[in-house]
Amino acid sequence: MEHAIFDWNTEIEGTLRAATLASAASDAGTVTSSDHVRFGLHATGVQVVDETLRDGLQNGSGVNPPIGHKVDLLHAMARIGVDVVSVGLPAAGARYAEDTHHLCLEIRDARLALLPTAAARTVVADVQGIARASQRAGMPIEVYSFIGSSPIRHYTEGWDLAFLVDSVRKSTEEAVREGLSFCLVTEDTTRAHPDMLRTLFRTAIEAGATRLCLCDTTGHVTPYGVAELIAFTRGEIQAIGAKGIQIDWHAHNDRGLSIATALWAASVGVDRVHGTGLGVGERVGNTSLELLVENLGLLGARAPVSRERLIEYCELAARALSWTIPDDHPIAGSRFRKEHVQSHAYRVVDESPSAPVVAPTAGKAPSDRLVPMMLRLGGSEVELAVHPRRTLLEALRYDLDLIGTKQGCDKGDCGACTVVLDGKAVLACLTLALDADGRDVQTVETIGGAHLDPLVDCFDRAGGGQCGFCTPGMLMSATALLDRNPRPTRSEINVAISGNLCRCTGYGRIVDAIELAASIRRGEEAGSIDMPGTECAPPPLASNTRPARPEKS
Ligand code: FES
Ligand code: FES
Repeated sequence: MEHAIFDWNTEIEGTLRAATLASAASDAGTVTSSDHVRFGLHATGVQVVDETLRDGLQNGSGVNPPIGHKVDLLHAMARIGVDVVSVGLPAAGARYAEDTHHLCLEIRDARLALLPTAAARTVVADVQGIARASQRAGMPIEVYSFIGSSPIRHYTEGWDLAFLVDSVRKSTEEAVREGLSFCLVTEDTTRAHPDMLRTLFRTAIEAGATRLCLCDTTGHVTPYGVAELIAFTRGEIQAIGAKGIQIDWHAHNDRGLSIATALWAASVGVDRVHGTGLGVGERVGNTSLELLVENLGLLGARAPVSRERLIEYCELAARALSWTIPDDHPIAGSRFRKEHVQSHAYRVVDESPSAPVVAPTAGKAPSDRLVPMMLRLGGSEVELAVHPRRTLLEALRYDLDLIGTKQGCDKGDCGACTVVLDGKAVLACLTLALDADGRDVQTVETIGGAHLDPLVDCFDRAGGGQCGFCTPGMLMSATALLDRNPRPTRSEINVAISGNLCRCTGYGRIVDAIELAASIRRGEEAGSIDMPGTECAPPPLASNTRPARPEKS
């Protein structure tokens, strides 16, 4: 297929010339003629975009991490100085949309120095999904809207020029109408024909786009091709006379060149470079974000980041993605941390023969690994693997998707997280998941089994809830009480629910409901509803235990 691709590595110039670099970087206002070939010098100010929670999820493992893991990784991103984060592709489904919302709230409420972006196809509905997420979270989310740009992609999809132009124009206009910044992401840019790129760029910019993202989707380009493509793009922006249009670089690693091409892109003055934790992504992955941050620091283009923070980031990325850090990973690999550190670099730093040689992460307990455990949940044995510091609340909500147990204060004040552990009401936010290993746990999802629990019925009949946030915790405190005391006094009920705060119902009706349920349980009163059958059965329980990844050969 002679015209299946356009090769930016060879078809424009054939070789990299200093003039190309100088021209590109001069256009970016970052270089003088005397220093134009000093690699890395012009990357100063480049922003780093973390795509782990979007492109990184396309790694083939099929794992969409629990939201708790995503949130932990989000904080680690902020600690290593990531500027921009992709919070997902909300149009991928309800769970992705909800996670996008949750991550935006975390950025807002924890005041993380991260700018959120979200991905969309060049489809108006996808852009509208991001607009809704932005409105729900009350913060702007930049739209990164992607479309294939190479001839081979158009051939396989059956797309013609009119369709492409129409899709780009409508998506851009929709984002502008919603007041959101719009970036046109041209997938497979490094194999796209200049005429096609010119048309797509112009269409987007004329409709209001403020950013172009150039992609090496197949990991095809060499540093020469990067410089040529970026010089071309700058030329096109200038030719239109558009002001303030920024350029991103997004690369994959099929030839093992992604870190090199990302650094070249930064060197010739792109505004943002993308990466993923551990370079995880489709096929052999993306640019490794931690290596990008480390190298930009070594080149003086960004503030250096400590090894401890980069290793922590790698470990949280590995946990989120169910990935194994390779032994020979340059930053977080066990071989580097145990052998190379001891035999080379750190011994050079400390020449004292008696001084202990300590790797940057020495002291990290092996207990930082996930630990397998089992819960007896509503009669079913559920296996999972948890971090030793994970709470029972986090394990239930984020590892097992049992979100009936509420996360209120997360510090033992509100009782919203109450569950029943071996017959006793406990606060799941203050209970380590591993402390529940092998024990019997009841949550609001499991009480009553296949029947509607009388307590649930009575809360409804007595008007024992308004917003319902406290209700699962109330139900579990009441369950533990009635299981050990079938005939409680009002005073004993008061004591049993004294740790459960309700902000809207008031407690009288809740106590009424528990009294009524006790009578029904004793057979002294008829329940209004008792429906054996599957409608009231708890949802099937998931397990987060997955088979170990096969060793790479
Ligand atoms: S969330 Fe556990 S007591 Fe508030
Ligand atoms: S019903 Fe709203 S907090 Fe209790």
